[in-house]
Order: sequence, then structure tokens, then C-alpha cells
Amino acid sequence: MRILFVADVFGSAGSGAVRERLPSLRDELEIDFCVVNGENAADGRGITPKLADRLLDAGADVVTLGNHTWARREIVPYLSASERVIRPANLGEGRPGRGLTVAPAADGTPVAVVNLMGWLFLDVPVTPFEIVDELVEKARSLAKIVIVDFHAEATSEKIAVARLLDGRVTAVLGTHTHVQTNDARILPGGTAAITDAGMTGPHDSVIGVQADLAIQRMRTGMPVRFHPATGDVRIEGAVVECDENGRATSCEALRVPVS
Ligand SMILES: [Fe+2]
Repeated sequence: MRILFVADVFGSAGSGAVRERLPSLRDELEIDFCVVNGENAADGRGITPKLADRLLDAGADVVTLGNHTWARREIVPYLSASERVIRPANLGEGRPGRGLTVAPAADGTPVAVVNLMGWLFLDVPVTPFEIVDELVEKARSLAKIVIVDFHAEATSEKIAVARLLDGRVTAVLGTHTHVQTNDARILPGGTAAITDAGMTGPHDSVIGVQADLAIQRMRTGMPVRFHPATGDVRIEGAVVECDENGRATSCEALRVPVS
């Protein structure tokens, strides 16, 4: 089973790249199942129902989110109804949507996808460590192949969660920081991991935002309205291969220039 994980889709450049290139990329890489993190799809913050549908139409089997889950109000009823677009599981009890789903791969094999958020330097009502064991056990009861999108700021926390889940899930793929790390690997217990899968969007930027605007805000400390950049667009992510028991056999970072 070959799984493609597409890292944080940023703005219209990112979602355009997915629409334009994901279908052919799925074929070229002989992908059986595809997860796309779409939490920055709507101008860099959040996602709308229309954008979520476009990612699914382009070839995402499941879309994951992150700290900007609630940035667009119109996504709330959509998340309540959707089984394909999920949000971090630790956003608090009773919130709309789900943090775990199961979808079939190309051959019908069920694949569980878990979305979880870190708590170091991020604002979450529940730490991932409080719920991760129960969540992963539930995922494992539903599917042998379990993919975890761990959306977090700190490399230490991302590596810690990957080690914590080693041998229990197929892959722990880090998202949120938008800079692809050079550590795609298989951990001793058979779990694929990368600390950050990168960003699908404009890399001529400061993590997606027009560089001059990001610099201006940092230099002055004054509010500056951010706009997504447009240049050096890439699809970034990771390709994971696993056996029928969900044990990873390879894990490679992916970087595909689009424009
Ligand atoms: Fe994020």
C-alpha cells in the first residue's frame, strides 16, 4: 500500500497546485490512499466547504486540519456532516466534527486517519497526551493501517509523539511549521515518521505569507494584514509504503515543483 501525504495546502496557490497536479501525481507515484492537510487553504487560515470539496475532488481521500479549524464559520456545519474532512481530536468535548475517520484505499482496504494537535506553543483545550492512547486504540480497532497527522509547532513534541506511537501506527506525519524536515525515516518499531512534511503552496514567502508583510509585522510589532504569496509553488509531503499489517516499509519526503 502506497500512501501520499500532502503537507499544509496554503492559499489559492496551494489549492490550485493540488487541483492541477494531484491527479497526475497520484498516478505517477502509484498511490493507493491520499491524505491532504488543508488547514491553510482559505487565504492561509482555515478552509471553506468549497475548498474542502475541491481537495477531495482532486484526489484527497481524507482532508485533515489544524489550529485554524474554526477560522471560517461556514466550515462548522460541513465538519459536523463530513466523514472525509476531519479536525484535531483534542479541540474539546462536544465540538463539531471528528478527529478520527476510516476511508477505503483504492483496493477497498480500510485506512484510519487520526488528526491531533500539539500543545507546546499552541492553544488547545486538551493536551494530545491525554487522549492519544485511547484514540489510537480506537483507530487500530477499525483498521490495520493508521495514519496520524500531528499538527504541532515544536520539533521535540512531534518527535516525542512519533516515538510514543512507534509500533502502534503506520505513520506519524508532522504538519504546521511549513518547513520540510530532513528526517523522513522508519522508527525502530516500524512506524514511518517525518517531523514536518512541509508546505504545499508558495515558497517565495515567509511560510506562505508575502515576505515583506511578515517582515513588516515582525519589525514594527504593529498589525499588518497578511496576504498569501504566489511564487515558487510546490507540492510537498511524504510518501509512505506499508505492508498489509500496517507496518511501514519506506518513508520518503516529497517535493514537486509546480510553478
Ligand atoms: Fe497550523
